[in-house]
Amino acid sequence: MASNDPLLQPYQLKHLTLKNRIMTTSHEPAYPENGMPKDRYRAYHVERAKAGVAMTMTAGSAAVSKDSPPVFNNILVYKDEVVGWMKKLTDECHNHGCAVMIQLTHLGRRTHWNKGDWLPALTSSHQREPAHRAFPKKMEDWDIKRIIGDYADAAERMAEAGLDGIELQCYGHLMDQMLSPFTNELDGPYGGSLENRARFALEVLAAIRARVGDKLLIGMRYTADEVAPGGITEEEGIAIGHMFKASGHVDFLNVIRGQIHTDPAMTDVIPVQGMKSAPHLDFAGRIKAEVGMPTFHAARIPDVATARHAIASGKLDMIGMTRAHMADPQVVKKIIEGREDDIRPCVGATYCLDRIYQAGDALCMHNAATGRELTMPHDIVPAAEKKKVVVVGAGPAGLEAARIAAERGHAVTVFEAAAQPGGQVRLTAQSARRKEMIGIIDWRMAQCAARDVEFRFDTWAEADDVTSLNPDVVIIATGGLPHTDVLEGGNDLVVSSWDLISGDVKPGSNVLVYDDAGDHAGLQAAEIAAKAGAKVEIMTPDRSFAPDVMAMNLVPYMRSMQDKDVTFTVTYRLTSVAKDGNQLKAVIGSDYMPLAKEKHYDQIVVNHGTLPLDELYFDLKPQSVNLGEVDYDAMLAGKPQVVNGGPKDGFRLFRIGDAVSARNTHAAIYDALRLVKDI
Ligand SMILES: Cc1cc2nc3c(=O)[nH]c(=O)nc-3n(C[C@H](O)[C@H](O)[C@H](O)COP(=O)(O)O)c2cc1C
Ligand code: SF4
Repeated sequence: MASNDPLLQPYQLKHLTLKNRIMTTSHEPAYPENGMPKDRYRAYHVERAKAGVAMTMTAGSAAVSKDSPPVFNNILVYKDEVVGWMKKLTDECHNHGCAVMIQLTHLGRRTHWNKGDWLPALTSSHQREPAHRAFPKKMEDWDIKRIIGDYADAAERMAEAGLDGIELQCYGHLMDQMLSPFTNELDGPYGGSLENRARFALEVLAAIRARVGDKLLIGMRYTADEVAPGGITEEEGIAIGHMFKASGHVDFLNVIRGQIHTDPAMTDVIPVQGMKSAPHLDFAGRIKAEVGMPTFHAARIPDVATARHAIASGKLDMIGMTRAHMADPQVVKKIIEGREDDIRPCVGATYCLDRIYQAGDALCMHNAATGRELTMPHDIVPAAEKKKVVVVGAGPAGLEAARIAAERGHAVTVFEAAAQPGGQVRLTAQSARRKEMIGIIDWRMAQCAARDVEFRFDTWAEADDVTSLNPDVVIIATGGLPHTDVLEGGNDLVVSSWDLISGDVKPGSNVLVYDDAGDHAGLQAAEIAAKAGAKVEIMTPDRSFAPDVMAMNLVPYMRSMQDKDVTFTVTYRLTSVAKDGNQLKAVIGSDYMPLAKEKHYDQIVVNHGTLPLDELYFDLKPQSVNLGEVDYDAMLAGKPQVVNGGPKDGFRLFRIGDAVSARNTHAAIYDALRLVKDI
């Protein structure tokens, strides 16, 4: 029987039938190899196509010109060899009934000249973009002519590769830099009035259409309101939409609201956890109503209910669920099968996007198979031989291990010392802004419950508790405890970041957060103290503070702390602490020179990662057949662990996550996935 779910109704976009209303919008995961979307890239998109998404907008900022250096490892569509790779990807997605488009762009000033061919970044002014920091060349007439031709060439390559369409990126990149009064300082036909500023975009559209004809669909992903005095207003955004429509070359709009030239501005366009859901949905709906064109939109609509509302209310024609698909590529499949509760939730951690701005590849904080489709399964294969698996610790690593072992068909028992699961993630979720993190735990608990995993909470497992269950495999995921014993003196006088986050210790009134780890916990503790009214100083021996809290994740912290006058002191090392009356005297040194200056606080918080809680592991080690050893080569090759060396009979013993060494949630979950999928 045909479904009446609004999300599952087909959508006719000119000659293209999209089989449902869910798409992934363009997002460059930085997987290209030498600028080409090779096997890893293709596998990533095919996984989503296989699971029913109607359209995948590939790339994200695929570069049409050489002087659009690939600042986050973009696809280089200015090279002819891209045709073969895109054809392969497109053909495979088409085999699953998924339409394929690609976003083309010239980054303009949103890049850096020290990438690619070291050509100067350029735009319609000499102003540099704060986020990427290149001082651009101001475009000349021959640049404009050349780049228009480059767009047409790139579109032609995509038509040759058999794609259904292209989308032009027109927010924060060159096309929008020309459109925006903030960044267009050109004289003559391309500067000044809105008509002149829009000329470049319209000439690109005309050149592409002349080259590719009507078969290739063309969309504009554009900012219809820069939300800043002096920038493109909503009225102008609507006028621009009408210009695109009147050109006769544009088949759909993909609506953006805001700017992306700074980290805070971009975070308002692509909100992270703790920020409003679907903040621009009504706006996108207004643009659709005013301009009257097929309209797509994405901005933190991670849940099916909101997506359904967006389509049912007629605000949008296609809904982008991009990060939602990074967390779970099977969103559509699970909707079709009536298994919405099984969808692994996107918790908005934005580890994925933040990584690409630090020259990494996009990885999902809690789906370690995303982007690793060539080696890591999204569907766990049942094991041939059923085993008894004991997991100790119900943090992210332990729960992932338990979930996968249970999906393999093993009988699983989990010991947890606390009354509730979650470990450090539960601690993180104490902060109201980060409470969505608990979705990482809740989803795994639900998956374990559906597979009869046995949980023993409030149980501090000793070696006998484990061995009395006659396990075949024991996985130690006991995590770690804060490591504050790092000073030359006065370690007993400091508290840990966890003490403040958990609420076990109340913030003082003049607080030093000494952050030698650079992760969320340090900033979280500082935020708690600042909110409680304390004067807070964050100090680090590093050359920048909180390096592991990346661009977009930093924004909510700064918004919460800047107006409370929190200060940041970099390149100084806390060496010791001593009591001085009712104050604490901090002795502060430096890695750069001999130094011993003194400062007074009433509370000193040390954030220095964790030390493994590994006693149980070492108690069990001599009894295990593998003596705790992991064959890394076998693990990386996806083969079972067969190391021996201990007693002939007994269990295999493994240790994962922070029980090995202090890392992050993704590392803990990846440890579990890659080990347990072969057990
Ligand atoms: C890793 C990553 C890379 C992205 N790169 C691009 C890009 O190159 N071009 C673009 O227009 N949007 C890009 N985006 C933004 C997405 O298209 C989308 O607008 C955003 O993720 C909000 O939608 P969501 O909440 O459904 O994820 C990127 C997003 C992610 C997560
Ligand atoms: S890293 Fe976070 S925001 Fe990104 S897909 Fe995963 S859960 Fe969603």
